[in-house]
Amino acid sequence: MKQFFAFSVLILLFLSGCSSGNSNTAMDGQSLYKKTCASCHGENLQGAVGPTLVNIKSKYSEADIEKIISKGSQHMPANLLDSEDSKIVAKWLLTK
Ligand code: HEC
Repeated sequence: MKQFFAFSVLILLFLSGCSSGNSNTAMDGQSLYKKTCASCHGENLQGAVGPTLVNIKSKYSEADIEKIISKGSQHMPANLLDSEDSKIVAKWLLTK
């Protein structure tokens, strides 16, 4: 019984370790997009100041989009996201 208790405590520590780890990891693509891109590209990718990103997968690969995010463009600021977050947003956009 004592052993079982010790084991449970270990499991709990392990689980709480994991969940605190998760809260530190990046947001998902949609949240990142809403926070960083939606002001110019629209809540639903419909476009605003920036062009629509609907069906952007027909135009760009994941690497292209990452590059656009890191390098920016004529009227789009560079370095909006770090490379990890750019990847997440690029992947998410390609599912749209
Ligand atoms: C300050 C406004 C602004 C923000 C914020 C912004 N963009 Fe842009 N984006 C633009 C504009 C304007 C263009 C059109 C190209 C140009 O003239 O610079 C563009 C172009 C693009 C393109 C190329 C579209 C095409 O059809 O060629 C992609 C992809 C893109 N943006 C993705 C993003 C992503 C992803 C984010 C968020 C990380 C983002 N943008 C944030 C303004 C913005």
